[in-house]
Amino acid sequence: MSHPITPRARVGVLISGSGTNLQALIDEAAAPGFPAEIVLVISNRLGVRGLQRASAAGIATLVINHQDFDDRASFDAALNEALESVGCQIVCLAGFMRILTSGFIDGWAGRMLNVHPSLLPSFPGLHTHQRALDASARVAGCTTHLVTPEVDSGPILAQAVVPILADDTADTLAARVLKQEHRIYPQTLRLLAEGRIRIVDGRAVIHDQAPPDGVILVNPTME
Ligand code: GAR
Repeated sequence: MSHPITPRARVGVLISGSGTNLQALIDEAAAPGFPAEIVLVISNRLGVRGLQRASAAGIATLVINHQDFDDRASFDAALNEALESVGCQIVCLAGFMRILTSGFIDGWAGRMLNVHPSLLPSFPGLHTHQRALDASARVAGCTTHLVTPEVDSGPILAQAVVPILADDTADTLAARVLKQEHRIYPQTLRLLAEGRIRIVDGRAVIHDQAPPDGVILVNPTME
């Protein structure tokens, strides 16, 4: 089944912290012709910098504190209700540090993106930069992918590679990787909003051009 998407896809962004990736999405979405607009930013934490970034850009914000819920399913149901209440068509996880239930993820299949600070499938999970240093890896990087129920493992959409330097710490490496996250995440949102991503045999196939008929489609079918 394909979901028709209006010329500017309505995007909800979920954050937990500083929101520099959110900022990159906001900045890129302001460019003329960008096929998506951010209509809602939800944080599971009160008072984080990302909420200020959204407000400064005139974007509606909401705090849904996971500690106010008995279990993950009811927290995710509240997220879903908020996203649907403003007609979101795409969800971007941008430093959102909660594990989502498969029920929630299935509802957004093919329409939910994540950015992760490693070259997946290496180093899923936390502390990616220290783990790359500990492994004597020579390169590091970041990945955007569609979100599937297994954490950090959905079809990969874009990656960027950076060198690991002899004097790198986890912090210096994180800063170098983060710059690349800011580059590939908006590019990936553009591809999804333009309907150029299809999943074939579990792999992402990216079409050179948007569908020619003027209808922008996101196909959530995992074939
Ligand atoms: C980013 O590096 C992002 O890739 C990472 O958290 C940071 C958030 O920074 N996300 C994860 O580790 C999720 N698995 P930001 O709030 O400044 O965008």
